[in-house]
Amino acid sequence: MAGSVLIVDDEDVVIRSCERILAPEGYSVQGATSARRAMEMIENGSFDLVITDLKMPEVDGIELIRWIREKSPGTGVVVITGYPSQESIKDALELGIIDYLPKPFSPQLLVDITEKALAAVKAAMGKERPEEEGDVEAKLKDITEVIESYRTRPGALIPVLQKVQGILGYLPPSVQRIIAKGLNLPVSEVHAVVSFYSFFTMKPKGKHNVRVCLGTACYVKRAAEILQKIRETLGLDEEEEITKDRKFSIETVRCLGACGLAPVVVIDQDIYGSVDPVKVPETIKQYN
Ligand code: FES
Repeated sequence: MAGSVLIVDDEDVVIRSCERILAPEGYSVQGATSARRAMEMIENGSFDLVITDLKMPEVDGIELIRWIREKSPGTGVVVITGYPSQESIKDALELGIIDYLPKPFSPQLLVDITEKALAAVKAAMGKERPEEEGDVEAKLKDITEVIESYRTRPGALIPVLQKVQGILGYLPPSVQRIIAKGLNLPVSEVHAVVSFYSFFTMKPKGKHNVRVCLGTACYVKRAAEILQKIRETLGLDEEEEITKDRKFSIETVRCLGACGLAPVVVIDQDIYGSVDPVKVPETIKQYN
C-alpha cells in the first residue's frame, strides 16, 4: 500500500537510509532534519505518515507530535527512538502514536511498521469495509452494555477493549470511536492502545487464521513465495486479508520465535516448520 511518508531525524544518515528502504516499496518519502522544518513541510504539503525521532535539539519529537495532533490530526505518527524509556513512549502513546521503531532497526521492521501504520491511518479515516457496519450493528447492544458497566471504573479501557473484541472478534475504527465516546476518552488514545498491543486486532479474523512469518530467517527461506502461494490457494488478492466466506484470514508477522524451523506458518494453533510452497494447498485443505 503506497503512501506519503515524512522522516524527521536530526541525523541525515537516518533519513537517507529510510528513503533507500521505503522508496523501492513504492512510498513517496521526504526528509526533515528538524521538527521546525517538518512543521513547515506539513503545512505546505500533506503526508499520510510522519516517522519522527524523539530526541532532537530545539523542538523535540514530543512537541512535534503535539503540533501534528492539533494541525494535522489525520496524519499518522510513528516514533523512532534510541531510548525507548517508559516515559517517552508513554508520552508519545498518550498523544496517539501508532507504533515505535527502536534504534537500530532492520529494513524489514521499517517496512512492516510503515505498512501497518499506513493501514491504521486509512482505517482511522473511516475507509472501513462495508461488512463492518452490519457486524457492529448486530452487536451494538452488547458492546454498549460492556461500556456502561465499566464507565465509572478507573483503568477501564483495556478490559473494555478485551471484552468488546471477545464479542465482535475485532476492534474496527467505528467501534473504537464508540468506546472512546462511552469512556469519555480521546479517540487517539483508544486507537493508540489498540495499535500498540498485538493481541488487539482491527481486522476480522476468519474461522481459521493463517499467520505467515516474514522475519529475516523465514524471508531468506522463501517466505514471500509461501505467502503468495497461500493467497493463491485461498483466492485472496494483494489487499484482501479475509476470504469472502470468512473461513480463512491471513496475516504476516515479523518473527514467531521459531527461527530454527524457518520458514514458519501457523494455522490457528498449529505450527508448520520448513514449509514447502508446493505443499501449501494440501496443508490448507485440511482446514476446510
Ligand atoms: S523469523 Fe520466522 S520464526 Fe523467526
